[in-house]
Amino acid sequence: MRSTQIRSTFLDFFTSRGHRQVPSSPLIPSDPTLLLANAGMNQFKPYFLGEVTPDFPRATTIQKCARTSDIDNVGRTNRHATFFEMMGNFSFGDYFKADAIAFAWELLTEGYQLEKDRLWITVYQDDDEAEQLWRRIGVPAERIQRLGMEDNFWSMGVPGPCGPCSEVNYDRGPAFGREGGPAVDGERYVEIWNLVFMQYQRGEGDKKGDFPILGDLAQQSIDTGLGLDRLAAILQDVENVCGTDLLRPTLTTVQELSGREYPGSGEEKVSFQVVAEHARSIAYLIADGVLPAKDGRGYVLRRLMRRAIRHARLLGIDKAVLAPTTASVIANLGDVWPELTAQAALIEQVVTAEEESFTRTLAQGTRLLNAAITRSRENRSTTLTGDTAFELHDTFGFPVELTIEAARDAGLTVDENRFADLLTEQQRRAKAGGKAKTAEALRRQDAYRELSARHGRTDFVGYDRLGAEATVLGLISDGTVVPGADQGSTVELVLDRSPFYAESGGQVGDTGTIRTADGTLLEVLDTKPGLEGFHVHTVRVAEGEIRTGQQAEALVNGARREAVARSHSATHVLHAMLRRTLGDHARQHGSLVDAGRLRFDFAHFSAVDRPQLAAIETLVNDSLLADPEVRVWHASRAEAEAAGATALFGEKYGDHVRIVDIGDFSRELCGGTHIGHGSNAGPVRIVGEASIGSNIRRIEALTGRDALDHYDTERRLLEELSALLGTRPQDAPDALRKRLNTLASAERELGRLRETELRDRAQQLAASARTVTGGRVVTEKVTGIGPDELRTLAHHAVGLLDTGHAVVVLGTEHQGKALLAAAITRSLHDTGTEASRILVPAARMVGGGTGGKGPVASAGGRRVKALDEALAIAAEDAARVLGQ
Ligand code: ALA
Repeated sequence: MRSTQIRSTFLDFFTSRGHRQVPSSPLIPSDPTLLLANAGMNQFKPYFLGEVTPDFPRATTIQKCARTSDIDNVGRTNRHATFFEMMGNFSFGDYFKADAIAFAWELLTEGYQLEKDRLWITVYQDDDEAEQLWRRIGVPAERIQRLGMEDNFWSMGVPGPCGPCSEVNYDRGPAFGREGGPAVDGERYVEIWNLVFMQYQRGEGDKKGDFPILGDLAQQSIDTGLGLDRLAAILQDVENVCGTDLLRPTLTTVQELSGREYPGSGEEKVSFQVVAEHARSIAYLIADGVLPAKDGRGYVLRRLMRRAIRHARLLGIDKAVLAPTTASVIANLGDVWPELTAQAALIEQVVTAEEESFTRTLAQGTRLLNAAITRSRENRSTTLTGDTAFELHDTFGFPVELTIEAARDAGLTVDENRFADLLTEQQRRAKAGGKAKTAEALRRQDAYRELSARHGRTDFVGYDRLGAEATVLGLISDGTVVPGADQGSTVELVLDRSPFYAESGGQVGDTGTIRTADGTLLEVLDTKPGLEGFHVHTVRVAEGEIRTGQQAEALVNGARREAVARSHSATHVLHAMLRRTLGDHARQHGSLVDAGRLRFDFAHFSAVDRPQLAAIETLVNDSLLADPEVRVWHASRAEAEAAGATALFGEKYGDHVRIVDIGDFSRELCGGTHIGHGSNAGPVRIVGEASIGSNIRRIEALTGRDALDHYDTERRLLEELSALLGTRPQDAPDALRKRLNTLASAERELGRLRETELRDRAQQLAASARTVTGGRVVTEKVTGIGPDELRTLAHHAVGLLDTGHAVVVLGTEHQGKALLAAAITRSLHDTGTEASRILVPAARMVGGGTGGKGPVASAGGRRVKALDEALAIAAEDAARVLGQ
């Protein structure tokens, strides 16, 4: 059965049994606790937790999943993969164990026609009910095994839904290993379908498979996952998932690239399978917007790419491997997964760039690695040092897993503890350099805790207004809670209620004033969240004194807030337009939202060129000029996600979130302050684009009045330039181009004239040569000439004297220095004489030095007055050299 039919059989079976067919969610999950989508139930987590009630009580999906927990097994076993399609059926408080088991049995034995006596079942150790249900359906007791938490209990996230599970395994026969059922590890009994009976909430545990159950879920639910790869291997009767129609074409591509036959000998089979399997994961990850990076999901991708490249080299593939193999994935699976085809160009660009850069360091790193392996062997050691692994990681970008794998192939283990220590040490150093917490900062933190324990969170009222009546709850000076502060001092201040926005989500904190009725005036210099939801204002006591417990009028600097709000809305619009122009992968990585300016970091694999940048700027401005409404609304996180709101990975959002819509093109989870309408943002002017890390770019832009000021500055510059050129601004470039051309030809002409003049002078000099024993000598003081010309002149003059041996020594005064140049004829040079030899005493006389080889030498010194004398000495030396 072809994989397309396996999929449709699954979906038809469940849709005809009342399940809503839901599309796969992308590999980048909206759930910030999850790095990559790894199970069909991910997108339904809020339904299982009872946070949201779905419109449909039953669902079925084919979900793209990425998991790297078993990456070391990929290529080595028949069944492991880092990417797979998981077919699932789900019940949200609808049917439970009995139906889930009945559905699975019916589909496997009738739909897919698997032999009943090859199916083995595992159930959770205490789950008598599940065992009874399987037996009732006809599975004999001897093919049902009970396993513990590690194998038969499933959970997602903390807190998250969890429950015991029951797995269906397929017996591939004695050729695949020893008997004994799925309790025996190995290739013979392949787990194909996991049925999870979701019924509890899990808490945080100390180790895997060991966590507290916090309580029951509101309703019992079903989550299942049937692995398409594994089922296809069985139904297509191939040993390995790489042999199925899902991966075989890519394996063939690897075969063609290497010129070797699969499976080959020794470790070749592993390499073939790793390259093919990883190529698929790589293509899907990039199609969903993941780009290689040094951490997070970008690192997962990079590791897969580097691992695939290394295995390709082991197969003797020296040319590009990722582009052709991912292209074969796209060709094979693009019909079913259109995002692959849509992102084909992006995939090719990203893999090509990464392969080029990694190939450069791979050779060097491999040499280092091999040398270290040989050294270990010579020393009869069974380990590779952690220092080597660290150097490979640090200098050559070898993921440590790759080093471990290469070492394992050579029969060595890596000292991973030492590696981890070195890594921690490096990170510690990096931190110590940057943001080491001072004792004061720690004290301050304690003070925040003390005050917030006493008073609770700050009531932030600044979304709707800029001013508020408030009570001073506490003052902190140098990290200590103090009762009051005097004029001139700078302290931190906490209010019960505050209109001041505390820096977060990239948006800077508010500034403004706080006044008391008795005339005390505080300048608010900054506002930060001391703790989450607890605003701390840095204030300078400008007039009077302030005491805890006083009533005060807090007032935000409205003009600055407005300028910040412009930047914030502009940032959302920029984000949307970047993704529209560059692709969905161009997601936010960080931002700074400040008064009149913004900085926006996003994922992208190459520089954004000028025309693209200009196009993005125009799109942003056009979108703002259309004056879209900026609308703020609140919802549960699940509702927001269902509505397509963009969340930032790594940001913590509560269950109740704030969403900011701009027109119909931007929807982001955001706690920041915004303008009411797009046109309030004023113009947005991009002033810079640069790389700030691997595949992360940064755009800097000005907004509102600052953007206008920037235009003004540019206009003034242009006006000044055109005034200088005596033209209208629009004619300035042409006028300048013309002037530059004129200037260049004038310079050329000047050069020619100067050359003629030098030749004339050279002739005069040559004519003035004195004859001495052994040749002729010229020594002369010249004027109006620089160092280069002095050498040229000496060179020209001696050239006119080359009928025998001759020496020319010239001196000049230039910019307060005495310069000397000596040139000798080629014939003299051929006798082994260097021009510098003649110049040494003269050079010393003017306070300089000379040296080097060749027929021309020069010198220079500060003693201008000694120039005549120096030339006289040079004349004597020249005569002596010629006389020898
Ligand atoms: N969520 C279950 C799994 O991934 C079905 O195995």
